[in-house]
Amino acid sequence: MASEIGLIGLGTMGAALALNIADNGFDIAVFNRTTEVTRDFAASAGSLAERITPTESLKDFVAALKSPRAIILMVPAGDIVDAQIAALRPLLDADDLIIDAGNANFHDTVRRAKAADAAGELFIGMGVSGGEEGARFGPAIMGGGPKQAWDRVSHIMEAISAKFEDTPCATWMGTDGAGHFVKTVHNGIEYADMQMIAEAYGIMRDGLGMEALAISEVFAKWNEGPLKSYLIEISAEVAGVDDPKTGQPMLDVILDTAGQKGTGRWTAIEALMIGAPATTIEAAVASRNLSSRLDERKLGQSIFGAAPQPIREVEGLVDQLEMALLAGKIACYAQGFGLLAAASEEFDWSLDMGDIARVWREGCIIRSSMLDDMASALSGDASLNLMFAPYFADLLARSHGGLRFIVAQGAIAGTPVPALSAALAYFDMMRTERSTANMLQAQRDFFGRHSFARVDGGSGHHGPWADDG
Ligand code: 6PG
Repeated sequence: MASEIGLIGLGTMGAALALNIADNGFDIAVFNRTTEVTRDFAASAGSLAERITPTESLKDFVAALKSPRAIILMVPAGDIVDAQIAALRPLLDADDLIIDAGNANFHDTVRRAKAADAAGELFIGMGVSGGEEGARFGPAIMGGGPKQAWDRVSHIMEAISAKFEDTPCATWMGTDGAGHFVKTVHNGIEYADMQMIAEAYGIMRDGLGMEALAISEVFAKWNEGPLKSYLIEISAEVAGVDDPKTGQPMLDVILDTAGQKGTGRWTAIEALMIGAPATTIEAAVASRNLSSRLDERKLGQSIFGAAPQPIREVEGLVDQLEMALLAGKIACYAQGFGLLAAASEEFDWSLDMGDIARVWREGCIIRSSMLDDMASALSGDASLNLMFAPYFADLLARSHGGLRFIVAQGAIAGTPVPALSAALAYFDMMRTERSTANMLQAQRDFFGRHSFARVDGGSGHHGPWADDG
């Protein structure tokens, strides 16, 4: 019997997604460039094997699919996606649908969508979040492309997605690159969330001299409060585990240089290009870059001595730290949603901030109890700064003092808190009516006659330093 959907690319994520699809009652044909991988996958599928048709050539793969076909690509982002589409298209009919479910750069997705559109073909760019576990048992899914194409496969995507109180976390976000853009910003926020947690860990480890196990207990306690989230939960877990080889805390034997595949960086790049402030995300990306300069850091320590000194004001510090993370998180999400709103205008997507927050409530890496409140706060007004929505304004009013205290203590002790600092500066700038950009305008006018607007009205003015001032 012909399969309802096909999947190409049986790496970790592809294999997990294929099993998830089969597990939800859909017949699926699969193909992998290396036949051995396909055979191993089929052999290990257990009782789900009856829903899976393994194929060993693209021709057989295409022939195994019900028409009009729907094919998910789960191959590494970049040129391989283009090569795969080029190999596949000649075997397909015009109304067959290709869905790129990898972590594509949304510019590539826009380009592929345009090419498909011009050729009268169907293409969807789909962001999938949740790691291997999510892909297998319920990811968050962010679709982008022609709405009618999404409608053809939405029943499958909703079935395999995570559920928040029975609501599927799978939504069409908009045309062409919208789904991949939303996934990119998700990852930017993921970087910032992770970095702020790492900074809180640093304050506890270096500032308070706490052991990993004690830090694990703090995270576990926070996971019962307003910070409840997947990332806090796994931070408690990783901090509580010992290295089987040495018996030391696992965290203490992990080298402190962070890897990255690029999606966080793309978020920062797009934010800078669009002119949307995403300083907490930028700081998180920069922190990963800095972390990788281990030799330089060693040299720095040999010249200046180790920076972190014990924090002196320890009274209530852990509670303040919880508040700091809370405030930092709100500021960071305000930036993420602000970027999404700006991109929506720029690329003509009509992104729905409420829908985005709803999709992120379950399945994805940044899932947290706070996202449900964000969904309510942002529904209906895409341009509202999350920090000013009454619920979050109230939370921030109670927590920004903690953020200020921690950033100050970090600065005094020499414990770097770059993402938290960026969040605090963003908050302070966004609540300051009279900024210092008047000085910038004066400087610009002085050296470049760029002109300025006056507080008492009118633009195009020059200062008395210019001949016509
Ligand atoms: C997810 C993750 C996933 C992956 C990224 C980030 O939403 O499931 O974001 O896509 O973890 O590739 O990886 P890097 O940290 O390597 O950039």
